[in-house]
Amino acid sequence: MNKVYSVAIDGPAGAGKSTMARRAAAELNFVYVDTGAIYRTVAYAVAEHSIRPDETEKIDALLPKLDLKLAWKDGVQHMYLDGRDVSTKIRLPEVSAMASKVSALPPVRAFLLDTQRNVAKTNSVIMDGRDIGTVVLPDADVKIYLSASAQVRAKRRFLELQEQGRRDTYEEVLQDMIERDYRDMHREIAPLKQAEDAVLLDTSELSLEESIEALLIIIRERLAL
Ligand code: DC
Repeated sequence: MNKVYSVAIDGPAGAGKSTMARRAAAELNFVYVDTGAIYRTVAYAVAEHSIRPDETEKIDALLPKLDLKLAWKDGVQHMYLDGRDVSTKIRLPEVSAMASKVSALPPVRAFLLDTQRNVAKTNSVIMDGRDIGTVVLPDADVKIYLSASAQVRAKRRFLELQEQGRRDTYEEVLQDMIERDYRDMHREIAPLKQAEDAVLLDTSELSLEESIEALLIIIRERLAL
């Protein structure tokens, strides 16, 4: 079997992880794994069952009943819940907030660990999330911590939401981002933090194309590709 490589990209919401990881994966012919989408799908299921994020026992009981599948179409990851493609629905801001809360629960993280690791066993992957370099793939060949200032990240997310026809104000988006950063960085289990051996890439001053170029340089250098 050919050697498989793993690239872990972690960082706060809105740092550009998914756009950049998707593009880099296409360039390198690796599978892009969006782990946030997996947490979002669990959060979506929790909301669909009218369970609140603090009803941990109900969430525990729901987990083994969930039929969760990942599939790739033209390099794009799709999430299936009970056979339904929920990839678009899980992007709503309400689901973002729910995912940030539900992902702090240890049983949810434990439940999703193998799902994430299994993809990396048989494929060369670029996997992005919050704890990929620290917990999910601690032996990843390359680890990158992608960041940008909260203001820059909120502005990017604000423009994205506007394009989708949403009316959220910049202040609301910024506030939501600050709250999510806090929750993701301060939870007890697998908090967002830079792994000791991760390369820091701050994209505050870079355009998307410049950021992707910088990312590819780091990956190619480390993997000697
Ligand atoms: O990357 P994202 O915004 O789609 O992720 C949604 C939420 O899921 C995020 O607020 C934190 C959580 N998450 C996580 O805890 N661990 C990951 N590896 C990926 C996402």
